[in-house]
This record gives sequence, structure tokens and C-alpha cells, in this order.
Amino acid sequence: MKKIAVLPGDGIGPEIVAEAVKVLNALELEFDMEAAPVGGAAYESHGHPLPESTLKLAQEADAILFGAVGDWKYDKLERALRPEQAILGLRKHLGLFANFRPAICYEQLTHASSLKPELIAGLDILIIRELTGDIYFGQPRGRRTAPDGHFPGAEEAFDTMRYSRPEIERIAHIAFQAARKRSQRVTSVDKSNVLETFQLWKDVVTEVGQQYPDVALDHMYVDNAAMQLVRAPKKFDVVVTGNMFGDILSDEAAMLTGSIGMLPSASLNERGQGLYEPSHGSAPDIAGQGIANPLATILSAAMMLRFSLDQPQAADRIESAVQHVLAQGLRTADIHSDGTTKVGTREMGDAVVAAITTKTITKG
Ligand code: IPM
Ligand code: MG
Repeated sequence: MKKIAVLPGDGIGPEIVAEAVKVLNALELEFDMEAAPVGGAAYESHGHPLPESTLKLAQEADAILFGAVGDWKYDKLERALRPEQAILGLRKHLGLFANFRPAICYEQLTHASSLKPELIAGLDILIIRELTGDIYFGQPRGRRTAPDGHFPGAEEAFDTMRYSRPEIERIAHIAFQAARKRSQRVTSVDKSNVLETFQLWKDVVTEVGQQYPDVALDHMYVDNAAMQLVRAPKKFDVVVTGNMFGDILSDEAAMLTGSIGMLPSASLNERGQGLYEPSHGSAPDIAGQGIANPLATILSAAMMLRFSLDQPQAADRIESAVQHVLAQGLRTADIHSDGTTKVGTREMGDAVVAAITTKTITKG
């Protein structure tokens, strides 16, 4: 039986994950689901954001359903104990190098964007972010007394940006293969005009691209990409980039859709094992109020069924149930507008479950 590790985490994490679990149960498939603490919650109970037992469960599972981690109250802890280290540790220990972050503008939510509706109607971008390299993980890093530079002898901090050829090759292959299933276009985002790391990035992506003559490849500097994303977002299809630029651009792209509460993500390793989480964070300011949007997590569960659990039809059922509740006019506070019905976290989850079960009955 396939095993799902359920890691709710902090802030709104437990509320939204509970709804996704409810939806998974409504599918009546046989899964073994096991929950474990992660992030600040795990720090409270185990003294570490990623306890051994949680890591072990994650390693043994076929897929991980992850809520969110982080709360301002942990900002003063030493870095190794902060909640964010849980997600970084999972990415590193499980080798989850390929991060898929779709930015889709749902037809019913065109008016939720800060951009003009005509700029984003029908938007469907896939950002593929490399997730285990770059300045996030490069060594050495640290604080020291500056040996040279503008202020020798002063306190300084430093991080190392680095990518190896195989790391770039494998993420490039992922991007070209994804583009083959979409509109055969890849934009590789770099900063090769300034950084050695990203000159290698550009060279390697170009080489790999020669193996995909059917896919059109173009290159864009990250500053320009940030600008083009708000100027003409629909010009993009698959975007592939490094860890740091991908972090920034994926938040920008998500917000274009006006509904970061709607966007799922998947992080895969070479074995197809994956971690699935909403693109948004733990939102501690609204935690416990029952108003968070559970749809990004529910849609992450759909991605999980498709990519790691070999259940594409179940994934379709969830996705069409989500379309159905949006068409019914149900909206959580983040996407609510005049003429729609405002619902809470639990009601939204219940509506998705109802849409799934009703359709099952109709089919049967
Ligand atoms: C993300 C988040 C993480 C990141 C944080 C929580 C470490 O911003 O998944 O985009 O920077 O990768
Ligand atoms: Mg981020």
C-alpha cells in the first residue's frame, strides 16, 4: 500500500492539511497516511524543526503532504533550529531537486489579480525551480572578520553561489520534458551578464536544449524576467531557473494570478518521490481563525496523486471538484469579491468533498 507522510507544520498548516486529508479520504482509495510534527510545532514537541522520526517517516513514504512552516515567534532562534530548516532539510535529505510551481489564473478569479484582467486571463505558466543547489546550499558560508574587501577587519557575512554541470543538466531535462507536454517553449532565466555560476547555467541549458530540437529555448536575465512577468506574463510558458531566482519569481508569478491561496507545488527527486505543498506560507496572522484557503493544499494533493501515487484519475476528480466549487461561487476571504459567497476553510473543504462524492454517485 502506498504511504503518505502528512506533515501539517505551523500557522494555517494544520487547518489546510486537514481539509486536504478529508478530500483524499473521500476518494476511497487505499492509502496509509501517517502524520508527524515539522517546523515550529516539532521544535516545541521535539526540540528540533525536523526530528529524526519525521525525517525517517518522510524518507520511507512514497509522497509527503506538507502544510507550511514558520512563525515570527521563532525568529530569534539560532538558524539551525528555525522552522524553515525543516523544509530545507527535507529538500536536501530527500534530494528533491525539481520544484514545479504552476501559476494558473482560474477563469472565475480573473478579477482577483492586481493586473488588468486582459493581461492575465487564461494565464498558465509553469515555473521549474532548481531546489537543492545555488546560494541556498553552497559552502562555505558564515560570518567572520573580513580578511579584505572594502572594510578589512569589519564583521562580514558571506554565502556561496554554485552549480555543477550535472545539477544544471538534470533540471534542464526536466524543463524540456515538461515543455513537450505543453506548448514546446522554455525560457531559462539567469544572470549570466554578471555571475559565473549563471554563465555555466546558460551554457549547459543551451547544450541540453540541442537534444530537444522540437522545443524553442530562449534566455532571459532575471531582472528582465521580473519585469516581463508583470508586463506580458502570457508570453511565458515553462520557465526554468535556479533556486534563488526561482524563489523570487515564483512568488511574483503566483501573485499575478491574484490567488496565491490557489496554487499547489510539487518537489520531486530522481526516484519520483515527492513533497507536495501549497505555494503560500504559514500565514500566522490568520492561523486558527478558520478563514485560510485550503484549495492550494487540496490541489497539491491532486498533484501528489498524479506524480507520485500513480492515480491520475483521482487527481482529475479533485481538480474538477475544485473547478466545480469555484463555479458554484464559493470563495474564501482571500479570493472573495462581490456576488460570490464567502466561506471558511472547513466549508470549502466540505464543498470539495461534496463535489467529489456527488460525481461518484452520478457515475455509479
Ligand atoms: C519557498 C519558501 C522557502 C524558500 C523558505 C520557507 C525556506 O520561501 O518554498 O519558496 O525560500 O525556498
Ligand atoms: Mg519562497
